[in-house]
Amino acid sequence: MRQSTLLLVAVAVMACVGGAFADSAYILASKSILNNYLVENMDITIQYSLFNIGEGAASSIQLLDYFPQEGFNIVAGSTSAKWDHLAAGANVTHLVVVRPLSHGRYNFTFGQVSYLETADASDPVVALTSAPGVQQIYPFNDYDRQYASHILQWAVFAVATAVLVGGPAFLYLGSRAKYVAVAAEEKNRKQR
Ligand SMILES: *[C@@H]1O[C@H](CO)[C@@H](O)[C@H](O)[C@H]1NC(C)=O
Ligand SMILES: *[C@@H]1O[C@H](CO)[C@@H](O)[C@H](O)[C@H]1NC(C)=O
Repeated sequence: MRQSTLLLVAVAVMACVGGAFADSAYILASKSILNNYLVENMDITIQYSLFNIGEGAASSIQLLDYFPQEGFNIVAGSTSAKWDHLAAGANVTHLVVVRPLSHGRYNFTFGQVSYLETADASDPVVALTSAPGVQQIYPFNDYDRQYASHILQWAVFAVATAVLVGGPAFLYLGSRAKYVAVAAEEKNRKQR
């Protein structure tokens, strides 16, 4: 009898502890670069995604990142963001557009996220986002030479393709129209 009472108490305590964990938020955060090519003096879009994989809502969420002023201009958005609330299973994203002032290799490090994992938590949890890592930022002149001339090449290619594909198609459509007209005339004549 006494043993089973103890067991019940133990189970109840475990349920309480489990319950406390089950109600707390747990945020996974990623930081990613949306551009395929990173080029000096051209916009780079950085996306932060926060996903609450916990069982409870997070509150007082703060995202904080940093780009050295001597290396980057902030073109749009901000390197920090705040949200009051992030429900369990919910996502939020944040974008910032930066422009690198020079070329070369740059280590894109992690941002920082802090939040309260339960409504009555007093100390915030501090987590790190993923980090894109070392990336090559190309000189603007290289980019200009390679891609501007490609745009011209693509335009020439597009015109050439239009003539090659479009030419026979026009001929076909033209002769088909003539054929249809002749057939219709024939039909009219027969009906009269
Ligand atoms: C939140 O993001 C994750 C990972 O990208 C995704 O699997 C999940 O479906 C998203 N949830 C909602 C509610 O959009
Ligand atoms: C990039 O920065 C991170 C964070 O500071 C560091 O851990 C990592 O070693 C750096 N990578 C390189 C290749 O320097």
